[in-house]
Amino acid sequence: MAPRRPIDQMTEQTPVTQTAAAKVPTLPDAQTVTEVKHYTDSLFSFRVTRPASLRFRSGEFVMIGLMGDPDPVTGRQKPLLRAYSIASPSWDDELEFYSIKVQNGPLTSKLQHIQPGDTVILRPKPVGTLVHDALLPGKRLYFFATGTGFAPFASLLRDPETYESYDEVIITHTCREVAELTYGRDLIESIRSDELMGELLGEENLAKLRYYPTTTREQSPKMGRITSLIETGELFADLGVPPLSPETDRAMVCGSLGFNTDLKVLLEKAGLREGANSEPAEFVVEKAFVG
Ligand code: A2P
Repeated sequence: MAPRRPIDQMTEQTPVTQTAAAKVPTLPDAQTVTEVKHYTDSLFSFRVTRPASLRFRSGEFVMIGLMGDPDPVTGRQKPLLRAYSIASPSWDDELEFYSIKVQNGPLTSKLQHIQPGDTVILRPKPVGTLVHDALLPGKRLYFFATGTGFAPFASLLRDPETYESYDEVIITHTCREVAELTYGRDLIESIRSDELMGELLGEENLAKLRYYPTTTREQSPKMGRITSLIETGELFADLGVPPLSPETDRAMVCGSLGFNTDLKVLLEKAGLREGANSEPAEFVVEKAFVG
């Protein structure tokens, strides 16, 4: 795959409309927002139209964003783009994203105010390592997420291939507070109860799905960092499965840098090796979008 150009080298090619009406730049790669949902002060999801030509593998990310403020001298606007995992499955007509809101974040301070009908910029060049192609065949697939790291798994959990390739699919999601689990909880609920989803994924496949939410700072039925729950063996005891093994288990990891690093150590200690598109192995890691 061709390397992506750094964001600061991207410039807009579409010229400013030269009519007397207004010098409004038309956005290249513009997509229309169709739905926005807010979960907490710091979390929201949104859906946008999908470019007809966009093909992607569940778990990949794209660059999306808005036009930045005009340069005070030249008046020229540059796009402000960030990597966002596509949270919708590859069969969906629209694209879904799950984001944090950072009050002084250059992009998310603005993006959090988008409404249906608004446009966002979407570069249609999907990439990423959280894809089935980067894993060798196995029996049990773990998705380990913290915070907005749930997003790529929201895509993979709605992809029939996930269930066809494994006997068990276990998604763990750890957040500080209970309300931060809502997006993931709602998604699991819709996968389990939605008739269309049942038909698409196969009822017998849905029995393979196990959901393991935990919180670390607010009381909930299961508390603790997933790394601690792995180390003590509590995760495996709760699920009634054997400890991690390179023979049977595969994993995808998405969260903060610290989380990814700590989990990688645990997976390697259990004998799993990190894979890539070019060299599939037993686990893959990607950093969640951080604002
Ligand atoms: P904790 O509350 O103990 O820090 P954040 O918002 O900081 O990205 O954290 C999201 C969730 O991930 C929190 O529940 C947090 O737990 C947990 N977490 C953060 N860093 C790690 C880590 N290095 N290992 C395991 N869990 C982590």
